[in-house]
Amino acid sequence: MAMLSLQNVVKRFGDNTVCDGIDLDVEEGQMVCLIGASGAGKSTLLRCINLLEPIEDGAIYLGGEDISIPGLDPQPVRKRIGIVFQSYNLFPHMTALENAMLAPRRVYGQSREVLRPQIEELFDKFGLADRMHHYPDQLSGGQQQRVAIVRALAMKPDVMLFDEITAALDPQLVGEVLAVLHLLKASGMTMVLATHEMDFAREAADKVCFLKDGHIIEEGPPEVVFEAPTKAETREFLARVL
Ligand SMILES: Nc1ncnc2c1ncn2[C@@H]1O[C@H](COP(=O)(O)OP(=O)(O)OP(=O)(O)O)[C@@H](O)[C@H]1O
Ligand SMILES: [Mg+2]
Repeated sequence: MAMLSLQNVVKRFGDNTVCDGIDLDVEEGQMVCLIGASGAGKSTLLRCINLLEPIEDGAIYLGGEDISIPGLDPQPVRKRIGIVFQSYNLFPHMTALENAMLAPRRVYGQSREVLRPQIEELFDKFGLADRMHHYPDQLSGGQQQRVAIVRALAMKPDVMLFDEITAALDPQLVGEVLAVLHLLKASGMTMVLATHEMDFAREAADKVCFLKDGHIIEEGPPEVVFEAPTKAETREFLARVL
């Protein structure tokens, strides 16, 4: 059974159909990369998975459970699906550590004493051990984005979604954030990424999905999608971006 399964997901904004019957399976521990031109529907699809947007048709299953039933309380689902965006949105008046402890303290009622060693371990793992007590404006963009990832992981999600998390970073800071994704993959996390980092998708993804106009035009292992795409639309897109 797939960890995450989308079946015929349809999302419209007015008469604009932004996801037009998306089928996608993500197995446990897989990293799936969504690629495609601006406006293809990548962000919207991630927002639908996290129940930030209601869907018009189809279904989304998490661990076999239908999470798209109308009227379902989204909060328990969002604990199980973490999402990180391009903008880190850390609270400026809290240190990195306090930012990361806030949600599990509020949502799970866990004490600082219980949380702290677990979260310190994450900071350590992602090269932030000496930055835990800094405030966001004392951190580089790459450090802030890594703190945002730690903050999402502190909830112990089953699945992580990443939406262009390196897009706002200076080029020299992109690598340190991509390194965190490599570590997460090695730890067995199930992940879906929208990304314009084609080199990263090529080397790290288990599966690449090329989206256009709300459709998955082509999907497969990166060596097929990048090296031997079967669809003309995929070839045109890759010729533009590579
Ligand atoms: N809240 C909204 N209301 C109306 N239309 C929206 C909304 N959010 C997205 N759209 C539209 O949905 C389409 C897909 O947008 P989306 O942001 O999902 O694309 P994307 O593939 O993530 O693009 P990019 O690579 O630029 O991030 C676009 O036509 C966009 O204008
Ligand atoms: Mg987007």
